Order: sequence, then C-alpha cells, then structure tokens
Amino acid sequence: MQSGNAWALQPLADMTTDEFNDWRKLLEARSGMVVSEQRRSFLQVNLTARMRELGITDYGSYYQQVIAGPSGAVEWVVLLDRLTVQETQFFRHAPSFAVVTEFLTEKIHTQPAPASIALWSVGCASGEEAWSLAISTSEALRTTSQKIEFGVTATDISHNALRQARQAKYDLRRMDNVPTEWVQHYFTQQADGKYQVVNSLAKHLCFARLNMLDLAQAPISGMDIIFCQNVLIYFRRWQRREILNRLVARLAPGGLLVIGVGEVAGWQHPDLEPVADERVLAFTRKG
Ligand SMILES: C[S@@+](CC[C@H](N)C(=O)[O-])C[C@H]1O[C@@H](n2cnc3c(N)ncnc32)[C@H](O)[C@@H]1O
Repeated sequence: MQSGNAWALQPLADMTTDEFNDWRKLLEARSGMVVSEQRRSFLQVNLTARMRELGITDYGSYYQQVIAGPSGAVEWVVLLDRLTVQETQFFRHAPSFAVVTEFLTEKIHTQPAPASIALWSVGCASGEEAWSLAISTSEALRTTSQKIEFGVTATDISHNALRQARQAKYDLRRMDNVPTEWVQHYFTQQADGKYQVVNSLAKHLCFARLNMLDLAQAPISGMDIIFCQNVLIYFRRWQRREILNRLVARLAPGGLLVIGVGEVAGWQHPDLEPVADERVLAFTRKG
C-alpha cells in the first residue's frame, strides 16, 4: 500500500488542451496576464503544486473550486500569488530613476514651487519600486528649503506582495542598488538582521490593492509621476495600450509617465511628449 506522501509525490497528468485553454482564459479575464503556449509548463507546475496542497488530483475539479462563489474568491487570491511574477529590485533600471530625479529636481526648483508632489508605482510588487521612488523624492527635496509635501501611492493585484510592501523590511542582499549612505539614512537594522524603512519615509507611502484591469474605476488622479515597469509585458498589446491611455488620464498636466523600455512598441498619445533619452521609455504630459 502507498503512503500518503508517496501519493503526493506522484506526477499529476498533463493538462489537456481544453483544460489549458480554460485556465489561461480565466487568468487573462481576471488579471490581464496572458499565458502563452511556451508558459504552459509554468502554469501546470504552479497549479499542480497548489492542487497537491489541497489534495485535488484533477484540473477540472480545481477549476470549479476556483470559480465557485466566495470560497472560490479566497482560493483565487492564493492561486494568483503563485501565478504572478513578483520579481523586483530597488532602483531597478537606473536610467528610469535618473529621469525621475531630473524631473523632480526641475519641478522642485521652478517658481512658484509646487505645494506637493504625487507619485504612483503601478504594479509595485513587494514595494522596492515604491520605496525607491520615495527615496528619490526625499533626496530631491533635500536640495531645497521650500516646504513641499509628497506622497507615493503604490498598487498591485497581489495581496501577498502588498503585505510585504507594507511590512517594508528587506534583506541587505536585496539592496545592492541602494547606496550605503541611503541605507543608513532611510533604513534601520532590526534584531533579525533585516532593514526596516524608517517611519519618516514610511509616512509618505500608501499601498492599495488595484487590478490594472479596473483602472477606469480607480479614484486616482492628478499624479505628477506615474511609474509602471515590468507589468505591461504580461498583457496583450491592445490591453497595454488601453491601460496606458487610462494612466495618461490620471497624469497631471506636465506630469511624467515612465514605462519599461520595449514594453509598448510604437505607442503614442496626443497629450504626451516623449522624453528625449533613448535609454528610457518616458513621456511628459503637455500643458
Ligand atoms: C514583475 S513585477 C514588477 C514589479 C516592479 N514594477 C518592478 O519593475 O520591479 C509585476 C507585478 O505586477 C503585478 N500585476 C500583475 N497583473 C496585475 C494586474 N492586473 N493589476 C495590478 N498588478 C498586477 C504582479 O502582482 C507583480 O507584483
């Protein structure tokens, strides 16, 4: 007789084409993420890992469980975390952050200086991008004696990623891109060796769950900087354009939109002017 563990280690059967199509349609309809044929094994590995935890042996039963009412909604949250790529870094893509700093410096030193600056990290994962924007802004503000407020809104679809982002505690080995001086200024080392963002920075951040497919309903507007990198790549091309058009509508006149290089080839918007720096994909809103 087989032990329970031996059963758990047995490979589950491959998904049929119909099952694969059902799952990819569900994922795309609910999150916008496209699972290409090449990523079929990624989907299968992650589904089967979760199915094993639940003791479910066929894809159809698990699918029914995920789409079933309130309990399905809870399971969907768990599954989504397994299926989204949440890889991120502090100051990921240095040229994009250089453009942000340049924009902030110019804005801060124009007359009259703005009363406040609003930034948005769209698809913030575990928070590194949002904290990097906050540090960039705080550093830029150190160059002026003017009293200027700032706030960073950071959104993601994943509850788990947002929980980590709010916790704001990181391993030093994940902070290679943060200059030592900034680590000392913006973080304090904890008893467990991790680095916690200081309250004086944390008070400028607001994390919220937002599915980019629901942007039309999002009560966010008048942003001076919208930073959206390494998220749109998972969406269909028409969907990327639609999301970007919605983001532009939330940008203040003169505001800056920063996208990941190569994430939306050939996209243009009548209200935007490209930033003349070929290392980045960034635009400012006219007016
Ligand atoms: C690869 S990470 C990128 C993180 C960060 N922007 C960066 O560049 O390092 C992609 C993030 O997008 C989020 N995401 C995926 N689909 C989303 C959606 N429909 N709405 C909001 N966030 C989404 C994922 O949960 C994940 O945290």
